[in-house]
Parts: sequence; C-alpha cells; structure tokens
Amino acid sequence: MNAEIVSLKNVSVYFNDVSVLEDITFSIKQNDFLAIIGPNGGGKTTLLKVILGLIKPNRGEVAVFGKTPEEGRKLIGYLPQYTSFDLKFPINVFNVVLMGRYNGIFKRYSKEDKEAVINALKIVEMLEFRDRQIGKLSGGQLQRVLLARALARERKLLVLDEPMTNIDPEMQQSFYELLVELKKEMTIVLVTHDIGVVSVYVDEIACLNRKLVYHGSKETALKKLEDLYKCPVELIAHGIPHRVLKRH
Ligand SMILES: Nc1ncnc2c1ncn2[C@@H]1O[C@H](COP(=O)(O)OP(=O)(O)O)[C@@H](O)[C@H]1O
Ligand SMILES: [Mg+2]
Repeated sequence: MNAEIVSLKNVSVYFNDVSVLEDITFSIKQNDFLAIIGPNGGGKTTLLKVILGLIKPNRGEVAVFGKTPEEGRKLIGYLPQYTSFDLKFPINVFNVVLMGRYNGIFKRYSKEDKEAVINALKIVEMLEFRDRQIGKLSGGQLQRVLLARALARERKLLVLDEPMTNIDPEMQQSFYELLVELKKEMTIVLVTHDIGVVSVYVDEIACLNRKLVYHGSKETALKKLEDLYKCPVELIAHGIPHRVLKRH
C-alpha cells in the first residue's frame, strides 16, 4: 500500500460560527489522482487551504508528509482557484515561473533556479513563449504557465483548484493529458465540476458538501452515480463524448 502523504482526522472549520467543514476524516496516498467534486460553497477550496496550512481548522488534526501543514506545504505545488494576477503588469512568462522559486527577499536567483524554470516550461510545453508578456497569452496558455510556476520547485503533491474555468475544451484535453503524465511522478488533487473528465482521468473521487459524502475508488463511485447526484455536478452533459470515453 502506498504511503499516506496527507491525513485529516475529524477536521472542522467554522467561519463566524457558520460550519464550512464538518468532521472530515480522510487521507491521500502517494500517487493518488484524486478529484474533489461538490457544489459551489461546499468547502472545496477551504479544504485545500487546510491542507496547505493557509487555514487552521477549529478542530481536528492535519498531517502533510508526516509534518505540520506549514512545514509539509514546501512539497506542494498549488494552483489557486483565482489568480490575483494583474494581467496588465509588464512581466514575461519566464519571470512569472521564476516566482515559483522565490526563496526570501534577500536571496538572488541562481543558475539552478533559472534551469528549473526552463525545465518547468518544457514540461508544460510553453518554453517558446518564455519572453511573451503575461497579458498576451490565451486562457489555456496562461494556465499552463501558472502550472509551470507551481512545478518550478521540487514538488511531490500537486493541488489544483478548478483549473479548467475559462479554458476552451481543446485546451482542457491537452491539460488533462499533461496531468496524466505528471501523475507518473507525483500525487495530484484536482477540484473540478467536470464529472465527465473525472470518469476518464482520475482514480479516486471525494464528494464534498460541508461533509465528505463519498471518498473512494472511481470505479465504485461511478457505479454509485446515484449517490453522486447528491452533488449538483454537471454530469457528463457538457463533456465532449471523446473525452468521456476512455481511448483503447
Ligand atoms: N475567509 C472566509 N470567511 C468567511 N467565510 C468564508 C471564507 N472563505 C470561504 N467562506 C465561506 O465558506 C463556504 C465554503 O467556501 P469554499 O471553500 O470557497 O467553497 P467551494 O470552493 O467548494 O466553492 C462558503 O459559504 C464561503 O462563503
Ligand atoms: Mg472553490
């Protein structure tokens, strides 16, 4: 059995006395490709932030790589749901990815940092855009660059919060194929509404609506589609058939 890299025990979060996460217990194992689905406001982003140590739970215990989330998150690459990025800011692709290597205000970037940036841009197939200003990319290209930034350091867990919003279907498919490649070397947690894509690419599903309704293997989950209807996910409807069916 693969090692447990994230573990939550009886985690609860309240915002101003309103319960957002209730008694969540689950774990993520090495090399899992886990999708978290659920309605808007169901607590998905909050759960990711708890794992990243950005929100402290009111109750319960969290361990990330056997450490506190603050320590463990150094091994996590994070692509947030909303990027607080001024697209008019005159910064090029290379320097955005270099930010992923940021190591404190007094540290200068080394040759190693720059090599890591080039490598990350190669992985997401965006190296030829290295000098392009960030505002002059398509939504899909920008998302790849932000993924490269999340990958620019040695990461073992990749956390993606609804990365497909505003990306056209063609780009989505190649993004997912990229994730399948990355999965060979890392663990991935993906928050998404696209159950069609979930059924093809991921291995496990957690369904979150304040409580964790379901967590387990995709096969079992898909047999229990009725259970999953508890979550108002856009079921396959907006998926393109060739993305829904596994290729042989
Ligand atoms: N910092 C915060 N302060 C107060 N309420 C918050 C905060 N962050 C999120 N919430 C609330 O917590 C609930 C869960 O939010 P979120 O985790 O963003 O859900 P999801 O990502 O599943 O859409 C929502 O009702 C949201 O309004
Ligand atoms: Mg969210």
